[in-house]
Amino acid sequence: MQLQQVIQSILLAAASLPFSAGAWDVTLDAGSRCCSNLASSFPHRVLGSKTAEFTQANNHRWSTTAILNPKCIVQPVNTEEVSSIVKILTSNESTSGFPACPFAIKSGGHMPFAGANNIDGGIVLDLSLLDSTSLSSDHQVVSIGPGSTWQGAANKLKGTGVGIPTGRCPSTAVGGVTLGGGISFFASKIGFAADNVVNFEIVLASGDIVNANATSNQDLWTALKGSSGNLGIVTRFDFSAFPQPSLWAGGLPLPADEHSTRLALTAMHGLTKMHRLFPKVAYGQVFSFNASRTPHEGGIWNSIVFTGEDINELHLPPMPITIGGVTTEINLTDHMRETDLASLLEESDQFPWGYRNYIATVAFVNDLPTLSHVHDLTVDLYKTVRHVQNMEWLFAYEPLPYLFTEHSLARGGNVLGLNRTKDDLILMQLAPRWSSPADDKVMQDTAKQWVEQVKGYTKSVGKASDFLYLNYADGFQDPIAGYGEQSVWYLRDVARKYDPHGVFQKAVKGGFKIPGMGGNKNTHDEL
Ligand SMILES: Cc1cc2nc3c(=O)[nH]c(=O)nc-3n(C[C@H](O)[C@H](O)[C@H](O)COP(=O)(O)OP(=O)(O)OC[C@H]3O[C@@H](n4cnc5c(N)ncnc54)[C@H](O)[C@@H]3O)c2cc1C
Ligand SMILES: *[C@@H]1O[C@H](CO)[C@@H](O)[C@H](O)[C@H]1NC(C)=O
Ligand SMILES: *[C@@H]1O[C@H](CO)[C@@H](O)[C@H](O)[C@H]1NC(C)=O
Ligand SMILES: *[C@@H]1O[C@H](CO)[C@@H](O)[C@H](O)[C@H]1NC(C)=O
Ligand SMILES: *[C@@H]1O[C@H](CO)[C@@H](O)[C@H](O)[C@H]1NC(C)=O
Ligand SMILES: *[C@@H]1O[C@H](CO)[C@@H](O)[C@H](O)[C@H]1NC(C)=O
Repeated sequence: MQLQQVIQSILLAAASLPFSAGAWDVTLDAGSRCCSNLASSFPHRVLGSKTAEFTQANNHRWSTTAILNPKCIVQPVNTEEVSSIVKILTSNESTSGFPACPFAIKSGGHMPFAGANNIDGGIVLDLSLLDSTSLSSDHQVVSIGPGSTWQGAANKLKGTGVGIPTGRCPSTAVGGVTLGGGISFFASKIGFAADNVVNFEIVLASGDIVNANATSNQDLWTALKGSSGNLGIVTRFDFSAFPQPSLWAGGLPLPADEHSTRLALTAMHGLTKMHRLFPKVAYGQVFSFNASRTPHEGGIWNSIVFTGEDINELHLPPMPITIGGVTTEINLTDHMRETDLASLLEESDQFPWGYRNYIATVAFVNDLPTLSHVHDLTVDLYKTVRHVQNMEWLFAYEPLPYLFTEHSLARGGNVLGLNRTKDDLILMQLAPRWSSPADDKVMQDTAKQWVEQVKGYTKSVGKASDFLYLNYADGFQDPIAGYGEQSVWYLRDVARKYDPHGVFQKAVKGGFKIPGMGGNKNTHDEL
């Protein structure tokens, strides 16, 4: 045999192994080397595997599907430490051609897919201790660390009469939610959470700490509004604050029988269409199905929040509802009561931790027949997996009217690409939970089937939208591509400028990447 043939056959044999042993070893070696370098500089910030603290920090994720086996977890307490850590993680990258350390970035740990906020064999940069909230003395700006939960931030603001666009779930964190856009109760008044960030403090790949705002690094400021972890590690968000002494909130549970379902879908369509008339209203619907629920397997939770000063300004038309053959007119206002942001978040804790989950997303034009059809196919898909043990099939609709985008543009614009059309959209997420890893495959397959079916149908009737909300996207989806070519080109330019060696594309293995920049795919399977 010629030498060349020998080499070739060795290479072929190696390639046929279940995974590339060589590449795997390099990853593990890099993990150990990088962790010991970190530990020698920050002995009190690094959790090595097998300690109780490590396990606790690693398990502190909303979904068990996100729990992997990192080599170590590093928990900086301030921006300077983040900067030093990034310098260590990338120290050999430009000088020796040695790859930067493989790492993942975690704030609140709510993304459920494996690899979004965790990494096998690498380092997790855990931002949970960067959790301060402070209100400027003139009450104009609230500065929050990425690791703070929205509940934590709202608690600090309680009694100040000041509001900020918080996420609607108490335990999600400011970091991930805001960098993916961020939908709050205030979107129809002020746009996405990210649109209200007047300044990001960010640690770049070089370790440099810079501000990105309307007058300094303006391209980076715009790019950060929707690009997740692609450009650096955001260590502080300065939000523009507004007066919000109280708000009104309520919910109406309905059985998911045929009548209530059509009524709810009509209400979703109507309120999305009439958003301009009700700019202070946040409305959402969660449907949930579960084989052990009686008499109907499904329920509908209609949630409504009024963010105006005076509830008497809200003149919602009454909803006729028939239950058990008896029709009554429901005045939603009657079901609402005055509360404040901190209390409302506390009560909104409806999504338990500790399950296996995925979240997948689609958006389509607000059209009632389309909404109805998509609803029906989502329920039909449930029927194919209703036997899965301890499974709850949750999906939600929320309005995504062009009005949100008008507010975004008025605040400097973002990269979501929602200004490509003036359509009012319905944003949808499918977010089932189940218990056993043995059911992962059958459940996760439904995410792909659902996206394919909804995309196929909405395209066939001319009601499709390319937009994918990053914060609700599953690992196989490509939300940044869904922002459109113009945003992708823009993000590539900004990434090349602020991260010339592609650290956040290549060393950060998971999460959603800017298409076409050589970053790995989103799931840890491809590591
Ligand atoms: C129960 C529940 C309720 C939700 N409610 C809402 C809601 O009301 N509104 C809404 O818009 N979304 C909502 N979401 C979706 C939510 O926005 C995303 O899951 C979001 O990514 C969570 O952010 P996190 O920091 O908690 O998660 P993480 O998983 O820690 O972070 C998400 C991603 O952002 C990256 N990242 C995080 N922080 C930084 C940082 N500082 N710098 C750079 N990259 C970073 C991470 O690497 C990761 O890829 C909800 C999700 C769940 C599970
Ligand atoms: C960088 O390279 C040097 C020598 O090549 C090595 O000793 C060091 O551990 C490396 N640092 C990191 C963070 O990998
Ligand atoms: C914008 O960044 C510059 C430079 O760091 C800083 O001086 C200025 O205060 C920042 N603006 C805001 C609104 O934070
Ligand atoms: C609904 O109830 C509110 C408060 O209870 C009341 O002010 C309002 O007039 C009612 N609306 C309708 C349409 O009946
Ligand atoms: C399914 O519904 C039953 C009855 O309402 C409830 O006890 C159970 O917790 C639900 N299952 C899940 C996975 O949420
Ligand atoms: C959408 O808004 C962005 C950011 O302001 C801008 O750069 C882009 O040109 C706009 N695109 C369209 C199609 O209007």
